[in-house]
Amino acid sequence: MSYLMPGLIGHRGVASEAPENTAIGLKRCKSLGIKWVELDVTQAGDGSLVMMHDETLERFGGRPERISNMDREALMKVDAGTWFSPVFAGEPLLFLEEALDLVKTLGLGLNLEIKVNPDLPVAPLVDAVVANRGLDALHNGERLVISSFDHTALARVAQQKPNWALGALYEGVTEQWAESLTDFTPYSIHTDFESLTAKLAAEIRAQYPLYCYTVNDPITFQRLLDMGVTGVFSDRAHAPDMRALVKAG
Ligand code: G3P
Ligand code: MG
Repeated sequence: MSYLMPGLIGHRGVASEAPENTAIGLKRCKSLGIKWVELDVTQAGDGSLVMMHDETLERFGGRPERISNMDREALMKVDAGTWFSPVFAGEPLLFLEEALDLVKTLGLGLNLEIKVNPDLPVAPLVDAVVANRGLDALHNGERLVISSFDHTALARVAQQKPNWALGALYEGVTEQWAESLTDFTPYSIHTDFESLTAKLAAEIRAQYPLYCYTVNDPITFQRLLDMGVTGVFSDRAHAPDMRALVKAG
């Protein structure tokens, strides 16, 4: 059985080696042999789509600004590298169209996670993401999975792009996991590994590919593979001890 995504996916790029969701991180993925990456995209106050996990800049040096109060010009001035290491000082935030260009140039596969900004409505975010032609190109090359914890967002993607592969994300997966899947059919299920039981893994795997986040050690990775998990998101997707556990990719 072949799957769109491999057994190891770079989480936020290669988050143990380079600042997350950045261009330098994507280039590092390529040089380290990572084939697929997971990146977060969210919306700023002016509608800009920025590659960003958080709702504020606090982690980037204690700055309190909320992304929903910022525009593209302000975001372009953010140093997204120094917080990780002075080596990456001045690394800018990426915008979605830049990230898609780079993913394409580097020949990577992309799991784009739509992070709904709690300060802003869902529909304009989803519509702005879906409108990017670069995503159609990745989809046509079988190099795209769109995921979100917000399943209404995924349903809205499905309305516009019925053939795109959708990953339904869960934080604390439960026996009721299928109840939110009424308005779209997922390609895959993505969940934290801590809440995944063997029983749930078997039930999900009977219907869908199953991916877990964020798995950074080979003992946990092997345990999940033994439960039938298809693959994992890892900050260490380049590491030999992780790669030794997957046959290919
Ligand atoms: O998409 C998998 C994983 O990235 C979800 O959690 O918080 O790291 O975006 P988070
Ligand atoms: Mg993510």
